[in-house]
Amino acid sequence: MNMDTIVSLCKRRGFIFQSSEIYGGAGSCWDYGPLGVELKNNIKRVWWRDTVHLRPDMVGLDASILMHPTVWKASGHVDHFSDPMVDCRACRHRFRADKLDETPWVHFCPTKTDARFEVPAGERCRHCGARRTLCPECGKGELTPPRQFNLMFKTYTGPVEEDAALTYLRPETAQGIFVNFDNVLQSMRLKLPFGIAQIGKSFRNEITPGNFIFRTREFEQMEIEFFVNPNETIDGRPADEVWHERWIEERLAWYHRYGIRPENLRVREHEKEELAHYAKRTADIEYRFPIGWSELEGIANRTDYDLKQHARFSGKSLTYFDEERKTHVVPYVIEPSAGADRSLLAFLVDAYREEEVRGEKRVVLRLHPDLAPTKIAVLPLLKKRGEIVATAHEIRSLLARWWVTVYDDTAAIGRLYRRQDEVGTPYCVTVDVQTVGDVDKGEAGDQRVTIRDRDSMQQIRVPIAELPTVLRQLLEGGTWQQVGGRYGIGG
Ligand code: GAP
Repeated sequence: MNMDTIVSLCKRRGFIFQSSEIYGGAGSCWDYGPLGVELKNNIKRVWWRDTVHLRPDMVGLDASILMHPTVWKASGHVDHFSDPMVDCRACRHRFRADKLDETPWVHFCPTKTDARFEVPAGERCRHCGARRTLCPECGKGELTPPRQFNLMFKTYTGPVEEDAALTYLRPETAQGIFVNFDNVLQSMRLKLPFGIAQIGKSFRNEITPGNFIFRTREFEQMEIEFFVNPNETIDGRPADEVWHERWIEERLAWYHRYGIRPENLRVREHEKEELAHYAKRTADIEYRFPIGWSELEGIANRTDYDLKQHARFSGKSLTYFDEERKTHVVPYVIEPSAGADRSLLAFLVDAYREEEVRGEKRVVLRLHPDLAPTKIAVLPLLKKRGEIVATAHEIRSLLARWWVTVYDDTAAIGRLYRRQDEVGTPYCVTVDVQTVGDVDKGEAGDQRVTIRDRDSMQQIRVPIAELPTVLRQLLEGGTWQQVGGRYGIGG
């Protein structure tokens, strides 16, 4: 499966649109459409529920995007948050110097008359054996020597654009947590180990954004800073190291829980030279994206670096009083840092299936019910029968109290099912003649409707009065076989 398939589905079915499309688009900025916003909200909601509400050792925070500019000096972002950039002297294209070998390159091969080739990333030309030395984009221009380019977006607070008013859009949500460490600790009377979690927008002026929503300049992060007492040991090992391993396991399990296939996830340790200036150890959870294995989430041991830096620059004490040892300590921090947009891309890619059903292609998003943008679609079998349509509308209004439920009568039932499959709706409820009866023929309806399961395409017939109970069981963890089995599953 390639990225274009997902991009096209996202646009066609209202998940993601290019930003400012009517003006020709804004580079690497994307807007979430009606289904995309539901999916992203669901990802953030289950992350928050599992991370904050279900854990006894976690609290939440929502810090502002604009912060005191010294925050970024203290954190090291002003001095270190940069990528090496090179320019092509001919076509003026810009590249990250450290990623040049990860892009395919254009080559004018001297051994061929029709000489323009695209050579796969990192490989030599298979005709002349040359390696890339010129611009990968135009194949002709020399590249400038690398220079450091700071990725933070600059802006000004107040009406005057002067250096004194210079500040930055936050490039990570993490610093909002560190600078609030003492506020949260004191107000919530917390004991180590504990975590502070936050979801919010971050901004990076990436040199080479791209691959749809994988790398953008504006994105959302779901970050945890988990504070650990560095003087403690667990089973004879430093507590920070043990907690780091626990968080790697926990975060991997989280992606599995919401449907990502284990064979598409792996953990990659950062090499020593690759480690950020603050990190003792970092492990990335990588996903097998259509562009290859790439980072989905980073889990770093940031040590006491950030709290010490902010204490030094602010002159405020950012310590924890260890009652047992009667001493002040600066906690170590384990940081599982996930991208909401990148997770959404991984969930979409992993859920996407093309199947053959009775000789026809069926596209289905096998999204976990907690993530699916629409939980239930209510469909009338015949839209010309007033009682059927009225009953379907009543059922939609009833179910919408608890779940995102839509009504659709714009096509024949087979098409309607396929449309819902394509956007991952787990259950369709169909109202038919048997449900409402036929007054002209003097036939009473049985007040039962059909529930169709997205994944198996099997059906059961359920009394309308029992619909909320049955759907609750299905959407809250009951299997189709268990729940549907009580009603006689049909094809
Ligand atoms: N506070 C640590 C931190 O920000 P990071 O590895 O730079 O670490 C964490 O970012 C996560 O944020 C990444 O794993 C990715 O999911 C997401 N992310 C980072 N840069 C991104 C970008 N330009 N576009 C989309 N998501 C991004």
